[in-house]
Order: sequence, then C-alpha cells, then structure tokens
Amino acid sequence: MAIAIMTSGGDSAGMNPAIKKFVKIVLERGEVPYLIYDGLEGLIDDNIHEATHETVAGIVHLGGTIIRSSRSKRFFEYDYRKQAFDNLQRRGIDKLMVLGGDGSFKALDIFYKDFGVSFIGVPATIDNDIHGTDYCLGVDTALNVIRTAIDGIRDTAASFKRGFVMEIMGRDCGYLTLMSAMTNGAEVMIIPEIKYDLESIKARLKNEIKNGRRYAVALVAEGVKVAQELTEWMQKEVGMESRLTVLGHVQRGGNPTVYDRRMAFEFVAFGMEKLLNDAQCHHVVVYKDADFDFVTIDFINSGKYEISPELIELTRHLSR
Ligand code: F6P
Repeated sequence: MAIAIMTSGGDSAGMNPAIKKFVKIVLERGEVPYLIYDGLEGLIDDNIHEATHETVAGIVHLGGTIIRSSRSKRFFEYDYRKQAFDNLQRRGIDKLMVLGGDGSFKALDIFYKDFGVSFIGVPATIDNDIHGTDYCLGVDTALNVIRTAIDGIRDTAASFKRGFVMEIMGRDCGYLTLMSAMTNGAEVMIIPEIKYDLESIKARLKNEIKNGRRYAVALVAEGVKVAQELTEWMQKEVGMESRLTVLGHVQRGGNPTVYDRRMAFEFVAFGMEKLLNDAQCHHVVVYKDADFDFVTIDFINSGKYEISPELIELTRHLSR
C-alpha cells in the first residue's frame, strides 16, 4: 500500500512535525510514504516523491512546510483532477492525508467522489476558523509570534505618548485578535464577531488619558478592514499621535511551539488510524471539547466556526 501526504492552502507551524509523524507511522506499518510537493498543484503536476526517515530528519522544529503549499484553481476542473488521479495510480497510492483548511478538504472531497481516493484531513490554519474543531494546527505558534510583536510595540509605545494600532491577520475570523487582546492587555479590540462602538471607546480612552494613560494599543482583525481608518481616528478623535503596524504574514512564520508539535503528532496519529482502517475514509480529524473525533466535509460546511461565547464576554469591554 502507498499513502501520500500534502499540505495545502496557507502554511502553518506544526505542518513539519505532522509530516514527520506521518512518514514514521507509514514506515512502521511497512507501507510506502509519499510526499506531494506544492499541494494540489504538485498533485496535478506529478511532483510526488517517496520519503524515507532521512527525508524528514531534522524538521520537527521548522516553521512552514518542507513540502511547500499552494492555492489551486486548476484542481476544481475535472481534467486536472483526472491527471492528478493518474499520477497517484501509477504509484499505487490510494490514500491521502491533507493538512490545510476547509477549502482544501472540499477539494479532496470532490476528488474522493470522482475517483474513490480515501483521505483524511487535518485542520491546519492559523485562522482557527474551521467549523467543528476547537483547534487548528499553527494557532498557538501564531499567537506566540503575535505576542512577541506586541511586546515589541509596547516597548516603543511606552517610550512615547502614542496610539498603536496593530492589524492582526486571520481572514474573516477574529480569534487570533481576541486571544491576543485578552492575553497581552490591549486597550482596544475590533473583531468581526463583536459590534464595536467608537464613541464609547473614545470616551473611555479620553478619560483614561486624563487619569494618566500615556499610550494605547489597539488590535484590529484583518477581516474588519478598518485598521488604517482607526489609526487616523485615534489621532484625530482621541488626540494621540498614532501609528499602524500590519503584522501580515509574519504571523505565519516561526518555529512550532511545544503545543503545536504535540498537536501535530496527535492529530496525525489519530487520523492515520482511521485512514489505514477505513477504505471509505473521507473525514477530517477535529479536536472538540478536549477530545479528538472525526467529522465529514458536509458537517464542516454545514456551519460557521464560532468563537466561544465565554471568550466573547471576557473581551467585549475592549470594543466599547
Ligand atoms: O488562511 C491563512 C491566511 O494567512 C489568512 O490569515 C490570510 O487572510 C490569508 O491566508 C492570506 O493569504 P495569502 O497567503 O494567499 O496572501
């Protein structure tokens, strides 16, 4: 039996430890592990190579993904999927593990329906926006990268009398921004999930400035698209000279934290058990209420990831 792994969509820390664990499990079973380079694009273009222990030696601490990734439009055309299937068939690969987000899982589900190639998905995206799972690989590392950046901003902020607006990446999900605001003591938080009130934020900040506040840090989620506007508003309305920092792809880098390495091993070990034993596997491993489970793509597509109401309540005051 031959089994392949690929990483697809935005990379995230934890993908490399996951790849290493995958290769180890497959070799221990006496099967042949393959690495598909460049995600779905590489699957179409036959960039598929057999792996040994050496291929994955010394990668557990590396951020990103050694087999690279892509966002593929071609894969949504049948002819390219057929080409991809032929590439797998030539090598006898009939099972796939994919690390990525819901777009990648959807692609693999279509592939499964076309050709019956079973697959298991492992949620891996810094956005933590996949319905059905509380955790996606890479989130903890991204939070730590953001924390380091905020620590840096705070050093310079404390040396001046200024407002610092930071835009936090996360597509349409405010999870990273919320967690960062809560754990780094931000004064203002703007995320898609909470209605914000600028007048009230202004009154609060002005009052605090009157009582000695010298600087303020405002975190704005990418999905709200108001970072520039808010920076100008801080300057004009709150009366603090203000600067904007857009963290962007810095957040996707960094060596995986201990937690992401552990979660990578657990997600993969759990997922491989199902992939190896279920010929009809077309599922995604999820981590829900501190336990691993499996869901179908239909389930993932049936709803939208929601930040827990407890976290929302704990931080709502930063949006007004
Ligand atoms: O999904 C991960 C992510 O980094 C998002 O946070 C961001 O909106 C998007 O990908 C950026 O995409 P790209 O790397 O294609 O510019």
